[in-house]
Formats: sequence, structure tokens, C-alpha cells
Amino acid sequence: MRIGILGAGSMADALGTRWAAAGHEVMVSGRDPGRSAERACHMTAQAAARGAGRGGVPAGGASGEARSCAVVEVRSGSFAEVAGFGDVVVVAVREAGLADTLRAAGPALRGKPLIDVTNGAAPDRYDPTRPLAHLIADLTGGHVVKGFNLCHVDVWRLTPPVFDGRPLAVPLCGDDPAAMEAARTLVADLGCTPVNGGGLARAMQLEATAAFMIGLWFGGADAQAVLPPLPSSGDHQPA
Ligand SMILES: NC(=O)c1ccc[n+]([C@@H]2O[C@H](COP(=O)([O-])OP(=O)(O)OC[C@H]3O[C@@H](n4cnc5c(N)ncnc54)[C@H](OP(=O)(O)O)[C@@H]3O)[C@@H](O)[C@H]2O)c1
Repeated sequence: MRIGILGAGSMADALGTRWAAAGHEVMVSGRDPGRSAERACHMTAQAAARGAGRGGVPAGGASGEARSCAVVEVRSGSFAEVAGFGDVVVVAVREAGLADTLRAAGPALRGKPLIDVTNGAAPDRYDPTRPLAHLIADLTGGHVVKGFNLCHVDVWRLTPPVFDGRPLAVPLCGDDPAAMEAARTLVADLGCTPVNGGGLARAMQLEATAAFMIGLWFGGADAQAVLPPLPSSGDHQPA
């Protein structure tokens, strides 16, 4: 898959490196071409050091058929070049730069799968009436899938993220079946398990959950401990 990443910061680095190591083609973009090129160079080296997919999960997922996946050099470009490059485009910029970045990315985003990993700048001031995922959809006309926003960047660097013997489950919210399928593939390529979080209307809940959990972590609480395991979660019919 060709993955364009709007952003050349920590999340672009962590996710893009893992996807490059899994055999995908990746292009990143920040505001400064020199810094973006340095980031791409660093990602290529890190992905290659992980052994062309052996340090991560081969493209196709943890249980997918192992394929040979040589690391392709991570590229950098302008926001518009990244938007045109990606079969899938990941939005990984800070809230302050979101609207300007999407405007610079331009019309190539229309109709594309867009993976939105963003969170609000200040968790204690999150405004559920203005979800970032909806802003991205409105500004681009892309098929937005919200995901990857519940965990700190260091979690996405783990190869793979497994806790207490269980692969990390990654909820995804989106409406477009092809975009959801692409997002599921990218989750599986990290060695994680995709979880259907419902349609894009529920992205606001995912953003609010991140804001709440980040608040708990900042306060030193073990946020994972606030939820019971499935057998103790009540008598529910599966959806
Ligand atoms: N870090 C985490 O643990 C984490 C976890 C989950 C979700 N997220 C979310 O993922 C997104 C990216 O986070 P990150 O940790 O990768 O951030 P970061 O390391 O600070 O990188 C931010 C990226 O946004 C770009 N940007 C564009 N306009 C900007 C502006 N006006 N102000 C600041 N940056 C601007 C930056 O460009 P330059 O390269 O030119 O600086 C950079 O490429 C954020 O929405 C964040 O909330 C972060």
C-alpha cells in the first residue's frame, strides 16, 4: 500500500516506520522540507534495522501469509505531494495546524481513505461539539476513519504492542467500507487487532475517550484498570 502521512512528527515516525518495515511505501510531510527529509531518512534507517518486516509484522497482518517485504526508502514531499501519493493518507498533525495542513494538501484528498490519528491539543478542554474527525471530513471530502488516537506514541513503536499476552485492540470509526478495510489492514500490520467502533458519528466518542483517558494517565491512574474484562461486562447480545 502507498501510505501518505500528513505530518513528520512523532506519530508519523512511529507508525510510518512500522508500516515501512512491514513492506509498505511511505511518504511523510511537515512544514519544513529539510526537517521532513531528515525524518524520512531516519525512518528508512529504523525500518531497515528492523529487518524488512522481521521486527514488525509482515504486510498482511499477524496471521497473514508471510511475504517477502523489502523496505522501500521512506520519502518526503510537500503536503500536496503526500496527498497525491497515498492510496491511504494518514492525518498526523497537531490540532493547531490541522486546517492549514489540509488546505495545503488540496483536492487530492477528496474521496480517499483518510486515517485520522489526531487528538485535541488540551484534553481538559476537549469540545465534543467540534470533533476533529468531522472537521477533516468536511474540509477534505475524504473517507475518514478515526483510530490510533487512544495510545501514546511509544506504544506504536512496540514490535508488536502486546500487553499481558494480548495484542492491543485498536477501535476504528468510519463509514466507508474500503477505508475501514484499509485501516484494518494497517492495524493488523502493527501486530494489533482491529475493533469495529461503529460509524464516523462515533468518532467524537473516541476523541472524548482519549481526552478522558489521557486525563487519568496524567493524574497517575492506571486507566486500563477502569474497565472489566468481557465476561464481567454484563449480559449483552453481540452487535
Ligand atoms: N504523541 C502522542 O503520543 C500521540 C498519540 C495519539 C495521537 N496523537 C495525535 O497525533 C497528532 C500528531 O502528534 P505528534 O505527537 O506526531 O506531534 P508532533 O511530533 O509535534 O508533530 C506534529 C506535526 O504536525 C505538524 N504541524 C503542522 N502545522 C502545525 C502547527 N501549526 N503547529 C504544530 N505542528 C504543526 C508538524 O510540522 P513540522 O514537522 O513542520 O513541525 C509536525 O509534522 C496530534 O494531533 C496528536 O494529538 C499523538
